[in-house]
Amino acid sequence: MSTSPLKIGLGIIGFGTVGQGVWKHLAATKKYLEVRMGVKIELIGVCVRDPSKKRDVEIPPTQIHTDPFKLLEDPRVNIVCELMGGTTLAREVTLRALHLGKVVVSANKALICEYGAEIFKTVSSHGGQFFFEASVAGGIPIIKSLREGLVANRFSEIAGIINGTCNYLLTRMEKEGLAYETVLQDARRLGYVEADESLDLDGIDAYHKAVILAFLAHGKWVPRRNTLVEGIRAVTLEDIRRAHDFGYRIKHLAVIRRNFSKGWMTLGVYPALIPLDKVLARVDGVFNGISLSGDVVGTTTLVGRGAGQDATASAVIGDIVDAIRVLKGASFKFLTQADLDSYNALGTAVRMATLDEIQTQFYLRFALRDKHGVSAEVYRILAEEKISVARVIQYEQAGTRRGTHTLSTYPVSESAMERALRKLKRLRTVLEPPLVLRIFTPEN
Ligand code: NAP
Ligand code: HSE
Repeated sequence: MSTSPLKIGLGIIGFGTVGQGVWKHLAATKKYLEVRMGVKIELIGVCVRDPSKKRDVEIPPTQIHTDPFKLLEDPRVNIVCELMGGTTLAREVTLRALHLGKVVVSANKALICEYGAEIFKTVSSHGGQFFFEASVAGGIPIIKSLREGLVANRFSEIAGIINGTCNYLLTRMEKEGLAYETVLQDARRLGYVEADESLDLDGIDAYHKAVILAFLAHGKWVPRRNTLVEGIRAVTLEDIRRAHDFGYRIKHLAVIRRNFSKGWMTLGVYPALIPLDKVLARVDGVFNGISLSGDVVGTTTLVGRGAGQDATASAVIGDIVDAIRVLKGASFKFLTQADLDSYNALGTAVRMATLDEIQTQFYLRFALRDKHGVSAEVYRILAEEKISVARVIQYEQAGTRRGTHTLSTYPVSESAMERALRKLKRLRTVLEPPLVLRIFTPEN
């Protein structure tokens, strides 16, 4: 006697770039997945703000809703895909679905960064599930890698390019000599940029993603006050060229370091100079790259598309397949109380490093008055803070009575550099606040 396959009902809340991508690709591969999983996948409905908006992916008007709660409470909906973004309504939607014991699939890194602890607790207390592969690094399966494939490791360093928009901007500025604004318009058109673009351009989106990686690797939800968060607005075409003169490329990086013997960790996102021969220096365009240095595996680097409709849809559909496994009764459960207890135990064993403990190599650019002895004053201040200069290149600006000085340092504490910069800013011969970038040499 044949039994009819289990019906899986999907509710997609948010039908913009990602939501439409998910349904476009799922509709195309549904038959194959249904045979493979032994289920019948059905789109129960999508939820949007403006139902009259013209969309690239068409679905019957009867399936378009504007009330997310009505859709998620429909008993036919087993999997709720939260693809609307934001943290207020998205939080309510996510928690309501989890309270109902439904499986939630999310691409919302801002929400997880801010409310991850509450969401994960709700999962463990209400028996639903929460999958979030698309929240970090688009199509790269980094969440699964940390949770499953690389679970044997303790990570001393996780360093990566995890904002596709910043990487796209920096790459095209460098390769085509284009202005920032011109490239930003293309990034918007391609669906890479967040609705609030400051999240991308000011480094906040990368911070959200780094916090998620740090939690999975070290069990700690790192608060913003303990981190360095810088975007790419201050980086000019001139800096990109100067970095090349020093043998580096500028990339927007997230860096999570852990010192197991001293018990500290650091988390920072910032534009950094990377040596030209490193793998991450060659990750271009909208691609993301993440190097993970683990005590068992060594350094592994994953590279792939980090933003945009298709890459993100790939990750969401991967989660939907995991969600179906759970609904079919798979014994594997993630975010159980045992998982949370083990993350909490990891997290209590680590503290954030102080600025004295963080050693960094720096690149500085400053405009100096073209006058006898001005560079000597700069070097005196650096020497007072025991900052050793590795390389200097000076560029004269003909007819302007000013010159641009760029220099790189050997590793020095963040606190020493902070003190030196305060003194440098007070010099009357330093014409503008110096641009300070970090130099980072990844393992790979
Ligand atoms: P988007 O294009 O702006 O789409 C958002 C969708 O949510 C739209 O369909 C919008 O409706 C709907 N929505 C927003 N507020 C709503 C409300 N109050 N009630 C009902 N519907 C509402 O955004 P997206 O780029 O697809 O991003 C969605 C999520 O995925 C975000 O969390 C984002 O951070 C994350 N993400 C995006 C990417 C990417 O490359 N784009 C990659 C990874 C993760 P209308 O269409 O009617 O306005
Ligand atoms: N705005 C994000 C980025 C989307 O550019 O990386 C992917 O998370």
